[in-house]
Amino acid sequence: MKEEKVLISTRALTKRFGQKDVLRGIDCDIKVGEKVAVIGPSGSGKSTFLRCLNLLEIPSGGVVSVDGEVLFESELTAKKDNLEAIKKQIKLLISGENSEEVKAHRAEAGELKKELEKTNSLLKEGSTKVKLLKVKLARGTGSVTQEDLDRELANLTSLGERKAELKTRLAGVNAKIKQKKSEAKALLDKDELARLKAAKAEAQEQYLKAKKAHNASMKKTNASIDEHRRNMGMVFQHFNLFNNLTVTENIVLAPLSLGLKDVKAKKKQLLKRKLKGEDVSEQLAALPTKLELAENAKATARRLLKRVGLEDKADVYPSTLSGGQKQRIAIVRALAMNPRVMLFDEPTSALDPEMVGEVLEVIKELAEGGMTMVIVTHEIGFAREVATRVLFIDEGIIKEDAPPAELFGAPKDARLKEFLSKVL
Ligand SMILES: Nc1ncnc2c1ncn2[C@@H]1O[C@H](COP(=O)(O)OP(=O)(O)OP(=O)(O)O)[C@@H](O)[C@H]1O
Ligand SMILES: [Mg+2]
Repeated sequence: MKEEKVLISTRALTKRFGQKDVLRGIDCDIKVGEKVAVIGPSGSGKSTFLRCLNLLEIPSGGVVSVDGEVLFESELTAKKDNLEAIKKQIKLLISGENSEEVKAHRAEAGELKKELEKTNSLLKEGSTKVKLLKVKLARGTGSVTQEDLDRELANLTSLGERKAELKTRLAGVNAKIKQKKSEAKALLDKDELARLKAAKAEAQEQYLKAKKAHNASMKKTNASIDEHRRNMGMVFQHFNLFNNLTVTENIVLAPLSLGLKDVKAKKKQLLKRKLKGEDVSEQLAALPTKLELAENAKATARRLLKRVGLEDKADVYPSTLSGGQKQRIAIVRALAMNPRVMLFDEPTSALDPEMVGEVLEVIKELAEGGMTMVIVTHEIGFAREVATRVLFIDEGIIKEDAPPAELFGAPKDARLKEFLSKVL
């Protein structure tokens, strides 16, 4: 029977970089065994989405849970935005800036300023030209005549007049703005202001609440982040292998250090119990030694290398490998952590065309073996064949979410249709 358990789930997931809202509310459930392909235009937020799933990037808001356990949750950004928006409304109301007449004059002033800037730069160009003409005329070579200079001087004069006129008009509009603002202030809607102030107080309270909840939640997030990342193998476009380590060393690095950390923690616990008088000698003796851990990790590396057809590369350095081989090693390195889900971010887009196939083959075998995976890819043929579901992300939201036959065969969203017409 097909498993239907939700492994990773996001709700209203957002991510903002500076002023830019890169993810704008992603609701997504990834079930055990699903192969989810993610497609979408460049810059739409696909990589950011993947990175938020394994908390390589801390989201700005929303919920990320794994196995029903909440790993990240925050409303802080949303509440802060709300508070800021109300503050801005109050400011506009009090200053008179939100009167329709003021807004209209502001727009007019904006146009005049643009015009003025244009005239200024023409003036600058013109006076440079005049200087040049004067020099050439003084040389008397005949390439420039007095008429040329007079024409340019006349041009300068008319530009100067235009500038003066624009300035007068701008001053007039600014005076009107000032007057209309003070009129609006005099007519200030007291009820509206009271309503906004109450809303501000409410928003402020909600913001403080969200801040407290956020801080508590981040503590929890930080405590579980290592465990969480361990469960998610990530493969990037540019392999990210260490060139100063051999293939095997690259693969065993993380599992070994985590294994040692685990043993250390277990030992500490056992010694605590010993101090309380408990006999833990058997458990202590059963803990693996560093050598045993290393042997285990190496054995796993060998087994996985064989699986991707690279057992003979165990002791070479990455620089001697082709791109396709490097990427297969990067996949093995992720698998060595025994993850519950694999996240691939365009695993083949940095490869020469002849190496794409061997990497896709490895991913396909993993998929057939039952691995849950999310894969950002431009390989539409591969997504069609291997994915159980395809997400189309555009402008930071999931615009379409359907099985491949449906999404590619009968796309509904207009932007998806446009996207597919370019890539298919
Ligand atoms: N660390 C960061 N700081 C600032 N902006 C970022 C950061 N990471 C991503 N962005 C911006 O977020 C937007 C989405 O980036 P992302 O890498 O998620 O897009 P993508 O869909 O993966 O695009 P591509 O197909 O080109 O890989 C882009 O505008 C990018 O410039
Ligand atoms: Mg990307």
